Amino acid sequence: MKKTDNRNINIALLGAGTVGGGVYRLIKENREEFKDRTGAVINVKKVLVRDMSKDRTGFDKAVLTDDFNEIISDKDIEIVVELMGGLHPALEYVTESLKAGKQVVTANKDLIAEHGELIGNLAEQMGSDLLFEAAVAGAIPIIRPLKQSMAGNNISEIMGIVNGTTNYILTKMSETGMSYSDALAKATELGYAEADPTADVEGYDAGRKVAIMATIAFHSRVVFNQVYTEGITKITADDIRYAKEFGYVIKLVGVAKQTENGIEAKVHPMLIPEDHPLAGVRDSYNAVFVHGDAMEDITFMGRGAGMMPTASAVMGDVIDVCRDLVYDSCGRVGCNCYKKMPVKRIEDSESKFFLRIIAEDRPGVLANIASVLGNNDVSIAQVVQKSRKSGTAELVIITDTVLEKNINDALAVFKGMSVVKDIPGVIRVY
Ligand code: NAP
Ligand code: HSE
Repeated sequence: MKKTDNRNINIALLGAGTVGGGVYRLIKENREEFKDRTGAVINVKKVLVRDMSKDRTGFDKAVLTDDFNEIISDKDIEIVVELMGGLHPALEYVTESLKAGKQVVTANKDLIAEHGELIGNLAEQMGSDLLFEAAVAGAIPIIRPLKQSMAGNNISEIMGIVNGTTNYILTKMSETGMSYSDALAKATELGYAEADPTADVEGYDAGRKVAIMATIAFHSRVVFNQVYTEGITKITADDIRYAKEFGYVIKLVGVAKQTENGIEAKVHPMLIPEDHPLAGVRDSYNAVFVHGDAMEDITFMGRGAGMMPTASAVMGDVIDVCRDLVYDSCGRVGCNCYKKMPVKRIEDSESKFFLRIIAEDRPGVLANIASVLGNNDVSIAQVVQKSRKSGTAELVIITDTVLEKNINDALAVFKGMSVVKDIPGVIRVY
């Protein structure tokens, strides 16, 4: 490998939104520093947008284009940085860029979680870099550590908070009593939410991140539709209040676990004990806990979303690619999926549960409910009768660890019982 001095590296940004704006600003403000760090002057030659008429404060008008052909046909553009989001045309643009011999950096978890194999193989064939640190947990370095620093371990579990929008919403609802819709509007204004925030609040964004981390950590391909996802849209102020009374906070948690009979990959709200480190991860912060056989436990924590935190992760990748180009090398470490493990169905995994049940307030009802749980092998750890009004009582039950299938069977029986009026809360417990 021979270093080329005084290199000029032209890059193109696909997207000038929250993240694109942050990356453009970092490059503009740190040109000299980045030159010293990489040995190359990094020049943003083109920025692709959809709508040329929008105000683009901070951008040099001359670099803006709405025509991808100007980028793909420009031999002087060596790195394409995809910051548009969504599957199409991101997939086509990334594929064409790799085929044209360009290096690619992307922050797009949808793309990696669904088409990682396709574009990863293409990058490998072309001997190009394909880096995506910003696709998982914003500013937190987790892809590179999983691929490189922890490569000497057998990783058995990854767990954490990997969506900034929902963590912000739950924090505001819990700490300030802000409404769900106001908190979501604020998270969108702060640039945390996806273009369609359904992806955040329904757990799809976190599910994509779990798929990506599981694939890399367990060396076995996990795609998004194999990840169980449940979002925060059903969490109410009552759930948050009851959780507090029991000494818990509610967080949207992602889990990827390697078990004897397959991989568990899931995202769902969870009651976390107030003294657990995850309980203190607030606002747009994310945290990822990784367990490996040699290293034991490692925790990563930092801003999980937002303009400059995400630009930080993208820029780390761009700088890495520039260093490779300066040495005329390829630093890519592929996903290394040399195993083929099944992904378990949610019914076959285990959890503790918090149940809120509204039932008729008369003798024998609690015994009935307890016997349904018992008949389905669900053992009760705690039970409290909360409010009593107009002939109904609210029961709050916390179970021991049970098979998900068993709790589902018990819930199906409750739904057919006339004494059970409503089951407004079913949340997993740490
Ligand atoms: P954004 O603010 O919605 O910006 C998207 C940009 O892409 C806009 O400039 C848009 O152009 C452009 N664009 C979209 N579709 C296009 C098309 N078909 N052709 C040309 N340009 C197109 O999104 P963002 O928040 O920056 O997110 C970008 C990516 O980063 C997504 O993959 C997201 O998941 C990921 N990410 C975001 C964050 C975050 O905190 N925001 C964190 C980590 C990762 P117009 O401006 O003309 O509409
Ligand atoms: N919408 C995502 C989030 C952006 O809120 O975490 C970071 O991936």
